[in-house]
Amino acid sequence: MQQESVNNLAEQKRKSVNTMEFTADGRYLRKVRSFVLRTGRLSEAQKRAMNENWHKFGLEHQAAHFDFPAIFGNNNPVVLEIGFGMGRSLVDMAKQNPHYNYLGIEVHTPGVGACIAYALEQQVTNLRVICHDAIEILKDNIPVESLAGLQLFFPDPWHKAKHHKRRIVQPTFIESIMPKLIHNGFIHMATDWQNYAEQMLEVLSQQPGLQNTSSTNDFIPRPDFRPLTKFEQRGHRLGHGVWDLYFIKK
Ligand SMILES: C[S@@+](CC[C@H](N)C(=O)[O-])C[C@H]1O[C@@H](n2cnc3c(N)ncnc32)[C@H](O)[C@@H]1O
Repeated sequence: MQQESVNNLAEQKRKSVNTMEFTADGRYLRKVRSFVLRTGRLSEAQKRAMNENWHKFGLEHQAAHFDFPAIFGNNNPVVLEIGFGMGRSLVDMAKQNPHYNYLGIEVHTPGVGACIAYALEQQVTNLRVICHDAIEILKDNIPVESLAGLQLFFPDPWHKAKHHKRRIVQPTFIESIMPKLIHNGFIHMATDWQNYAEQMLEVLSQQPGLQNTSSTNDFIPRPDFRPLTKFEQRGHRLGHGVWDLYFIKK
């Protein structure tokens, strides 16, 4: 890569992550996405972390499947986290679990920069990040039976009923995840929005290949191994409850 384009990488990503797509006959392809790109530029530190370390941490959306042993340099199990926000809890988890590899996907570029900066500070090496729509990464890049788990912490709740179709947790989303999980692989979700928690429970419970680990067949107590996330902290301040769901692939 040319030096100049390396220096501009963070800015290019910020502009290209939500590019429009067209059908073969040139019509605009309207996609229901689970995110709207928040405005907000990268800070100088986030930009520098991303531009100078993308070769160590960054993966690109590509035509072929990822080769995880080659990417991570080992055969450790891979955990995927979608929508890691600023990445703090993801980096903390990667540091706490050095015998796992973590793959984080986030469309918000300042978050990707902040995550890389914190990973450098914490000297975490078992982590890779992708700045792209997770739905497309799942479809195009994640090999069958390659994931030990999926983490989805405080996904955008899309409060209004007319926006519920934008929630990432839908039957089609779970169907796209199922073949990617190994036997006994987990799906761990958390939300501070009760109505979304109920939707998550319904969608996960309806998937015949999954087993709920909750003793009450609904939610689990907040597990200690999940670090507090930024959105969870915000939920606490607003007096929200928290619901964790933990299912295993049969
Ligand atoms: C409400 S925030 C939660 C962030 C973090 N998990 C936390 O708890 O602090 C949800 C995040 O998911 C990201 N997101 C939503 N849909 C996504 C998608 N399809 N692909 C990648 N990231 C997505 C958003 O950009 C946003 O940063």
